[in-house]
Amino acid sequence: MKIALIGYGRMGRMIEQSAREQGHTIAAIVDPFAADTPAGILVSKTIAEANLDSADAAIEFTVPATACANIIALAQRKIPTVVGTTGWLDKLDEVRKAVEAANSALLWASNFSIGVNLFYRIANYAAELFNNFSEYDVGGFEAHHNKKLDSPSGTAKTLAEGVLSKLDRKNKIVWDKLDRKPAPDELHFSSLRLGSIPGTHSLFFDSQADTIEITHTARGREGFASGAVRAAAWLTAKERHGVFTIDDMLKEYV
Ligand SMILES: NC(=O)c1ccc[n+]([C@@H]2O[C@H](COP(=O)([O-])OP(=O)(O)OC[C@H]3O[C@@H](n4cnc5c(N)ncnc54)[C@H](O)[C@@H]3O)[C@@H](O)[C@H]2O)c1
Repeated sequence: MKIALIGYGRMGRMIEQSAREQGHTIAAIVDPFAADTPAGILVSKTIAEANLDSADAAIEFTVPATACANIIALAQRKIPTVVGTTGWLDKLDEVRKAVEAANSALLWASNFSIGVNLFYRIANYAAELFNNFSEYDVGGFEAHHNKKLDSPSGTAKTLAEGVLSKLDRKNKIVWDKLDRKPAPDELHFSSLRLGSIPGTHSLFFDSQADTIEITHTARGREGFASGAVRAAAWLTAKERHGVFTIDDMLKEYV
């Protein structure tokens, strides 16, 4: 597979390495601010300027403000696209319309780690079990490095929304800090930005007697990068049209 990297920051570089390890090549790089790009690869500032004729797929890891425009531009060029950028999902409907109108293919995930996606399932199952035991309160916590632009993390949103859907006694997620007691139907999920943490997400079930804590701790960015490359291979393995998530890929395994 020949991959166009849209965004050549920390994730773009990691994806380049992971793609090469998985036997793929880099067809082009699009990043208006990229430095130290590899020799022999065409680098452009915008998707409109880029020669993407040889690209089988694009992998987009940029910034929330630009992701939506990038996805639409790639859809209009009919390039199957994997998107890892977070913080743009409020525009998912607009993006879906553009992808479907262009008859193109998009796969997005707020977290490409296979472990995190299995963790979502474990968390949802745990919430289903605890739903029958009202003495347990439920809440969560996430921590990320101090360069992260969005808060809460996209992963925390997916995790908390999944858990909320399984708990009859909780109706609302509260992300902000609380200067008051939480209402019983509120699920409180807080965020910390600190140092170099690649990503930690915890879920707590707490009663007077005990606490059950389940945590996913990323050791680095490798898991996100290899998952995104794997998703691009899945997206291009056969003719696909429309909008997919990493769950569509995982359904083929579990
Ligand atoms: N889904 C996942 O698994 C996952 C994992 C890690 C990070 N992320 C998300 O991926 C995104 C990128 O993370 P990062 O750590 O690589 O950030 P980064 O700041 O290191 O890199 C972002 C890059 O995007 C480039 N960029 C800015 N505007 C652009 C444009 N218009 N076109 C092309 N490139 C542009 C910047 O120059 C920079 O090089 C963030 O939104 C982050 O939250 C997602």
